[in-house]
Amino acid sequence: MHLLTLKDWASEQIKEVIDKSIEIKKNPDRYRTSLEGKSLAMIFQKTSTRTRTSFEVAMTQLGGHALYMDWRTTNLVLADVRDETRYLSRNVDCIMARLLKHADLKAMAEASRVPVINGCDEKYHPCQAISDLMTIKEKKGFLNGLKLVYIGVHNNVCNSLIEGCTRMGMNITTVTPMVNEPSFDKELVEGAKRTGLYKTTMDAREAVKDCDIVYTDTWVDMEFFLDPKFKEEKEKRIKLMMPYQVNKELLKESDALVMHDMPIHRGYEITGDVVESPNSIIYDQSENRLYSAKGILLKLLGKT
Ligand code: CP
Repeated sequence: MHLLTLKDWASEQIKEVIDKSIEIKKNPDRYRTSLEGKSLAMIFQKTSTRTRTSFEVAMTQLGGHALYMDWRTTNLVLADVRDETRYLSRNVDCIMARLLKHADLKAMAEASRVPVINGCDEKYHPCQAISDLMTIKEKKGFLNGLKLVYIGVHNNVCNSLIEGCTRMGMNITTVTPMVNEPSFDKELVEGAKRTGLYKTTMDAREAVKDCDIVYTDTWVDMEFFLDPKFKEEKEKRIKLMMPYQVNKELLKESDALVMHDMPIHRGYEITGDVVESPNSIIYDQSENRLYSAKGILLKLLGKT
């Protein structure tokens, strides 16, 4: 079993990991030796703070070991991803990879003897969505029937939220004036529409009026953020997206919780005062990446 996208998991499996993650957070000592002797290879082709930290600390706190592997310093840069994965999966018990292309993650999973976890690619960020749902359940006590509004660019995080929310019986409305083309997944969007729980609008003010959670994310994907070649596109996006900034004015009649998967760009997709406001659960959400990483690892390594 792998975790490449939530589309591959049954709703019951997603729920099980959310509940397990909450349980692990409450009782960490019960799991101190759960992955004793196990190793996780963590391969990064892109930058990361939370995904790297949470999985590495999770393995340590579960009694196992994690290896950080920068893609550029491995022979993945010059060899076939399948060959390298076939070798790697003979030495480790699990692989977590943050890659540029979902197709490479699929190739990895096909070649691997051990579970492969998607640590975020251009299409999906399933680990983030599991942590987000865990956080919402922790705060509200339930998920079914809640209403989340995502405001930003339709990207990988948005895809996984749509899948995760609709599977858990939550309503999700997206306010996405632009779609990150490589992230587009027609099958996922059409499937979500059929549930009757997903809709999209351009009216952010109306959407946030009666919602329980407002969620936003960066307007520019991490691999392009500091890329001079992306400067023009970045400026275009800022101009287009600025009217959709999550700020005090937008939320003035709302008591919704505020979420952001981080890293935050204050003054762009969200203002600093909203990040620091009492309704912001952003830092709890990011902290929960640790407990949800544990939940995911235990599920995939058969230790639930
Ligand atoms: N949200 C998230 O995945 O954070 P990092 O990019 O820092 O891992």
